[in-house]
Amino acid sequence: MTEDRAPAVTRQDLLTMMSSVRRTGILRAGVELKVFDALAGGPAAPEAVAASCGADPRGTRILLNALAATGLLETDGDRFLLAPGAESTLVTTHPDYYGHAVRLAASDYEWDAIKRLADAVRSGGTVMEENAESPSYAFWEDFAALGTLNTPPIAALVADKLLPWPGEQGELKVLDVACGHGLYGYTLAGREPRAHVWSLDWPNVLAVTEANAERLGVRERAHFIAGDMFDVPLEGPYDVVVVANVLHHFSAGRAGLLLARVAEAVRPGGKLVAIAISTSDGHPRHDPVPHLFSALMLAWTSEGQVHPVSAYEDMVASAGFARPKLYTLPHNPLRVLIADRL
Ligand SMILES: C[S@@+](CC[C@H](N)C(=O)[O-])C[C@H]1O[C@@H](n2cnc3c(N)ncnc32)[C@H](O)[C@@H]1O
Repeated sequence: MTEDRAPAVTRQDLLTMMSSVRRTGILRAGVELKVFDALAGGPAAPEAVAASCGADPRGTRILLNALAATGLLETDGDRFLLAPGAESTLVTTHPDYYGHAVRLAASDYEWDAIKRLADAVRSGGTVMEENAESPSYAFWEDFAALGTLNTPPIAALVADKLLPWPGEQGELKVLDVACGHGLYGYTLAGREPRAHVWSLDWPNVLAVTEANAERLGVRERAHFIAGDMFDVPLEGPYDVVVVANVLHHFSAGRAGLLLARVAEAVRPGGKLVAIAISTSDGHPRHDPVPHLFSALMLAWTSEGQVHPVSAYEDMVASAGFARPKLYTLPHNPLRVLIADRL
């Protein structure tokens, strides 16, 4: 306990943590009002930005100063302009626009849950009537539409590990359970013309998934299974089943039940791809993301949490698969486990 001690906690540290919620609100307001679009043409005074955003001039001036305080804008005192990097990330017409991620990471859904964290700690699980486990939860439509920065590189890693698929003939049948955006299956289908993908999720989410399949040019080989992954018929048998970023919604026991159910739908010799954030053995300070996410899972699900990688390995092996191989990417909290069906 004495080695590797954290620096002493100061009042300033606490203030910084407490003001994070203001920074989030300021960013969210800037994105919502399209302040960055209003400044895309060059420096402008608050009155001009207010007119462009359809907002009140006094309110706009206060927001612009707050955005300058966060470093997203520059100012000479009279006019405001975009800080370096703000154009590519926060102007809606830019191809790398990332402001829409505010709808996920700074959403009311997450905030409503995390602000009740102490209640969740008292009761041992979410106190939210509507939460991440609710059937057809609207948040998952946004998630499916927007995805995360971590998804494309991990989808590429999975395709690299599974392809080329052995054998010359026949379909490669892929089931993507709790698929959301569907990118894990569709990245495989984009690279392997023999692949057909069955995307499973709630019906409201699948409407978004289908649009993604269309956009990615694989709609003709995309099939859909709508319903609860714990009891909808899975069809199959499949060559590959993907279970990504949903095991942490559950206790290890319930996640294991899901994997055992999925195992029944995989042909012997087929592959399971399980993707999850996991905690490591080290001090939480050195790998904070999984622990912060686990607190959200506590606040947003009845039994969910981020499990250690060893727990995922055990769940996979107990469900009827060989010991999985583990793959990671630098600076990406997702862990990929790939295992053969016994
Ligand atoms: C965090 S998202 C994961 C999406 C995608 N697999 C990924 O890795 O990015 C969780 C998804 O699980 C779906 N989901 C949660 N519980 C489900 C259930 N019981 N049956 C079907 N889908 C479910 C949600 O609708 C949501 O799309």
